Amino acid sequence: MQEYGTRLAGKVAIVTGAGTRGEVVGTGQATSILYARQGAKVLLVDLNQQNAEKTLATIEKEGGTASIFMADVTQSDQCQAMADEAVSRYGSIDILSNNVGIGSTGTVLDAEESEWDRVLDVNLKSMFLTSKFVIPRMIETCTSGGSIINIASIDGMRANWWPNISYAASKAGAIGMSRNMAVHHGRDNIRVNSIAPGHIFASMVGDMPDELRQLRQQAGPLGTEGTAWDIAWASVFLASDEARWISGVVLPVDAGLFASTPLSMLRRIQDEA
Ligand SMILES: NC(=O)c1ccc[n+]([C@@H]2O[C@H](COP(=O)([O-])OP(=O)(O)OC[C@H]3O[C@@H](n4cnc5c(N)ncnc54)[C@H](O)[C@@H]3O)[C@@H](O)[C@H]2O)c1
Repeated sequence: MQEYGTRLAGKVAIVTGAGTRGEVVGTGQATSILYARQGAKVLLVDLNQQNAEKTLATIEKEGGTASIFMADVTQSDQCQAMADEAVSRYGSIDILSNNVGIGSTGTVLDAEESEWDRVLDVNLKSMFLTSKFVIPRMIETCTSGGSIINIASIDGMRANWWPNISYAASKAGAIGMSRNMAVHHGRDNIRVNSIAPGHIFASMVGDMPDELRQLRQQAGPLGTEGTAWDIAWASVFLASDEARWISGVVLPVDAGLFASTPLSMLRRIQDEA
């Protein structure tokens, strides 16, 4: 195996939504690949076998250790089976990356109630369920301190120009839940943090028009495009022992977007036009 690093050597990770829906690399896919490159054994959890196989193929080609577990993480029994299976395949659970997430559209006036329920189930209830079954197994099997990383979004902290009320509420919920979990499970030696990706170009938005893709890139002070790999590197750090004293934070990975005022970036974009 090519040597990439050992930052997660000896650790076992679960990544939910570890596959990718399209040709563009997804955050779950990139996270799984980087975890494996850093020495972790990775349980690739997805409800779509084909999507997960793309991730597995890369990890196996590189000589890493991973396997697929098919599950819908909105279902309690499947989350319990996922936690049990990770321990039975690999002996422990040290890292949980709650990455599954789907988008939404609309304000409270035009979003359908059924969409609200679905998005909250997939994006937020899934984190509740996976954590409910993983934490006891982490306490039991993990010797060097557990790490849970919940993938939120900058949309959970500020409103997007594109109304997506269910998505925004679910991601705000993920941030609040992460802070609470960090407090509740600190004495169990489990760290819980969330990552808030900015306007990255990744699987979930892989089919957006070029014009919007460029605008999203320009919106960040760095002016460069973010990808799933940027989120995955942040996740490697938070999962590793290097972050042993970091818990309860929300880490924006957004090219500095969150630090800027809307007007500051508007002027810059106008100047660049
Ligand atoms: N792309 C962006 O601009 C952006 C910005 C902020 C946050 N995010 C977040 O990043 C994550 C997107 O992840 P991705 O790029 O890996 O997305 P993706 O759309 O490629 O989905 C990854 C996998 O999740 C699986 N999945 C969906 N529902 C599932 C379920 N109920 N159970 C199990 N698996 C399920 C899909 O089958 C797919 O293979 C989401 O949490 C999203 O909110 C993305």
